[in-house]
Amino acid sequence: MNQDELKRAAAIAALDYVIDGEIVGVGTGSTANHFIDGLATIKDRIRGAVASSEASARRLAAHGVRLFDLNDVERMPVYVDGADEIDAGLAMIKGGGGALTREKIVAAVADRFVCICDASKRVARLGRFPLPVEVIPMARAHVARRLTALGGEPRLRQGFVTDNGNLILDVHGLEITDPAGLEAEIDHIAGVVASGLFAMRGANVLLLAAAEGVERILRP
Ligand code: 5RP
Repeated sequence: MNQDELKRAAAIAALDYVIDGEIVGVGTGSTANHFIDGLATIKDRIRGAVASSEASARRLAAHGVRLFDLNDVERMPVYVDGADEIDAGLAMIKGGGGALTREKIVAAVADRFVCICDASKRVARLGRFPLPVEVIPMARAHVARRLTALGGEPRLRQGFVTDNGNLILDVHGLEITDPAGLEAEIDHIAGVVASGLFAMRGANVLLLAAAEGVERILRP
């Protein structure tokens, strides 16, 4: 199986976590797109979905899945999304697609985060993938200086504006030995909207697809 087929296998396995009659939180990216396509086949069983990006909202709407505004949702049993990296504690780096802030918000409302990945995303230590940080445009230089002081090398994602009208700094070269601590530290820099570290609220379940099948890993 190639990488895209593995992403699809993980995404299809996540359909087992969808609860009939409930609202599903939906992530962003190529793996999440496979999940959206799968969700379309069972759309009559669910109430609808909350999307974590404009792109996912468009794809869900094209399939005829009913979309909800997060503010109108009180209960969401599950959020399903991919990741750029995931470690043994199910902490993640996300935001390769730039949707990290909305992903974090939708995930925060859900009871369970189900992460869907191909096996290449599992790492012993987070940080080889540059950490995306969404920043308010006027704070770009200030935040970049602070991230440099933390040992990273921030680079502005060229020609990219988030769904929230902000910028992304991709931080290279970080040694992430304490994902939750670093997440809290970055969150406290004035002008940061969110970082792509999902450690304080990591995944509850990882569906990791490899040639041998989809492995189900629970948060320790
Ligand atoms: C988007 C994300 C994605 O989940 C992450 O980039 C993984 O993407 P893909 O499924 O395309 O490999 O965080 O902001």
